[in-house]
Amino acid sequence: MKSVVIKQPNELIIEERPLPVPGMNEVRVKISLAGICGSDSHIYRGHNPFAKYPRVIGHEFFGVIDAIGEGVTDKSPGERVCVDPVISCGHCYPCSIGKPNVCTSLVVLGVHRDGGFSEYAVVPAKNAWSVPQNVSDHHAVMVEPFTIAANVTGQVNPGKEDIALIYGAGPMGLTTLQALKNVYQVKQVIVADRINERLVMAENSGADWVINNGEHDLSTLLQEKGIKPTLIVDAACHPSILQEAISLASPAARIVLMGFSSEPSSIIQQGITGKEISIYSSRLNANKFPVVLDWLQKGLIDPDKLITHRFNYQQVTDAIELFEKDQKSCCKVLLTFN
Ligand code: NAI
Ligand code: MN
Ligand code: ZN
Repeated sequence: MKSVVIKQPNELIIEERPLPVPGMNEVRVKISLAGICGSDSHIYRGHNPFAKYPRVIGHEFFGVIDAIGEGVTDKSPGERVCVDPVISCGHCYPCSIGKPNVCTSLVVLGVHRDGGFSEYAVVPAKNAWSVPQNVSDHHAVMVEPFTIAANVTGQVNPGKEDIALIYGAGPMGLTTLQALKNVYQVKQVIVADRINERLVMAENSGADWVINNGEHDLSTLLQEKGIKPTLIVDAACHPSILQEAISLASPAARIVLMGFSSEPSSIIQQGITGKEISIYSSRLNANKFPVVLDWLQKGLIDPDKLITHRFNYQQVTDAIELFEKDQKSCCKVLLTFN
């Protein structure tokens, strides 16, 4: 089989590898679609501190089970599945309280272990989620990015009274936007980004108000309308955003951070405690695959609004380069493996 392998930072090859055999409680998936994410590019460029090389990248993938290992009773060949990349131990403290996404021995497919940019992948059977018939292949491959939004929103119990502000209209901002608008039906969602083309995508995904905060002062615009967001999601992840969010937020607001910056943020306590603001963070997803499959079955979210490009996996280098260079036209770039 052919696999997309990052041999070492900045060296991507398509390698012939032996077809893997599923072991105990594992299934083999014949991949048909995979999505490119920022973290794939970070591993390619050597910017992911968790990655070990050589590595088959890809943690957003969909396919059909073609072989099962010993002990697998609830999955069979022919089943369409999307794969949760989060592999956890099941018994540490975070696992015991329902947060396998931060398991003390966390393994993420495509990061710590070979992932889905490959003709076949062997994965734990319990990570392969059956896709209902009325969910199409290209929606199923988008489950993982929407699980990030399910995890973010799941932290903060959004309600109809919420006025949300999302920083960043990349894939993560847009999945969160769709969840807040369509699943939780919050009163209003405002999206801020520096790229107008991305703000247009946010409008298409249901934003009530988009603001180019590179051209306009966000704080002034919100003040003019007397808006104090009650829920703020940082899907842009610059270290300066937290303090700005604290000062823009309503009393009793919740703020969710998604970023992995290693730079310090300068924040003022008074602004947090004075308004009793709750600050959350969200990493990957904690058992959110069934949640998102349910959203898709009910037609609550529309992944098509995020998919901008498709490439055959043999053009993976072009696909990643376009994804990296052209944020104006790219949102989700898919790879096909048939
Ligand atoms: P992206 O890079 O495609 O989107 C980020 C967007 O933020 C861009 O459109 C950019 O123009 C905008 N932006 C940058 N600075 C801004 C600012 N100061 N104000 C408003 N907008 C600004 O990235 P993507 O894939 O949407 O991911 C967003 C972030 O979330 C990344 O930092 C990524 O590392 C992180 N992430 C976190 C995950 C988690 O589980 N916690 C999972 C996936 C991504
Ligand atoms: Mn991803
Ligand atoms: Zn664990």
